[in-house]
Amino acid sequence: MRIWIIAPGSRAKRLRIVILLAVCAMLGPVPSIGSDNTLPDMVKGRQEAMKAMANAGKTIAGMFEGKLPYDAPAFKRAAETIRAHSGAALMAEFPAASLGPPSAAKHEIDQSRDEFDALARKVASFASVISASADKAPDGITPEMRMGAGMSTMGSSLLGKRKIAAGEEDISKLPAEHAFHLMLQDCSACHAKFREKIQ
Ligand code: HEC
Repeated sequence: MRIWIIAPGSRAKRLRIVILLAVCAMLGPVPSIGSDNTLPDMVKGRQEAMKAMANAGKTIAGMFEGKLPYDAPAFKRAAETIRAHSGAALMAEFPAASLGPPSAAKHEIDQSRDEFDALARKVASFASVISASADKAPDGITPEMRMGAGMSTMGSSLLGKRKIAAGEEDISKLPAEHAFHLMLQDCSACHAKFREKIQ
């Protein structure tokens, strides 16, 4: 308002409005919520990390489903991408001040750190199992990697939950495909609780 009083000339007024708008644009992402240019670097960074995990997940799923040719190094790289972006790295990407719009990260994250961190760690543990499985399968997906190897596929998610509760030693014995499915459940579990549906 002060600007109008000290700038009676219409050209100066217009210029000052332009400057004022420019300052507003710098201060807040309000004018175009969701546009990448307006997001803080930290939010952009973690969204990129999430996208990298999603792409890596598609690669692994494609190989398990036979839609992509199995390639041990590429399979392992994809698992390592998820491992590197989950766990401690993921936990560090969501400080309290970065939560809420325009990010899709909910404020609840800061009220439920233990739960949030546990999900981030579980994704990393499963990704490690998937990564390790590629070392023992240089030429193709082995029967040991398959869902249901060593256990009944029926009720596998219940079995899976018991395994997780029992600790990581048990996770390491899971067939990679089973670990992959349990991992995706943890991605979804975190999104269901801690991510705003803005898309
Ligand atoms: C511990 C919680 C947590 C886990 C685990 C998690 N995510 Fe996310 N994810 C989030 C949150 C929170 C957001 C919203 C981030 C934001 O907008 O700032 C998000 C956003 C995303 C997005 C959207 C990114 C964008 O462009 O806006 C994708 C895709 C995604 N996650 C994929 C995954 C995949 C795949 C996994 C598992 C391999 C995973 N996430 C695991 C919490 C998690």
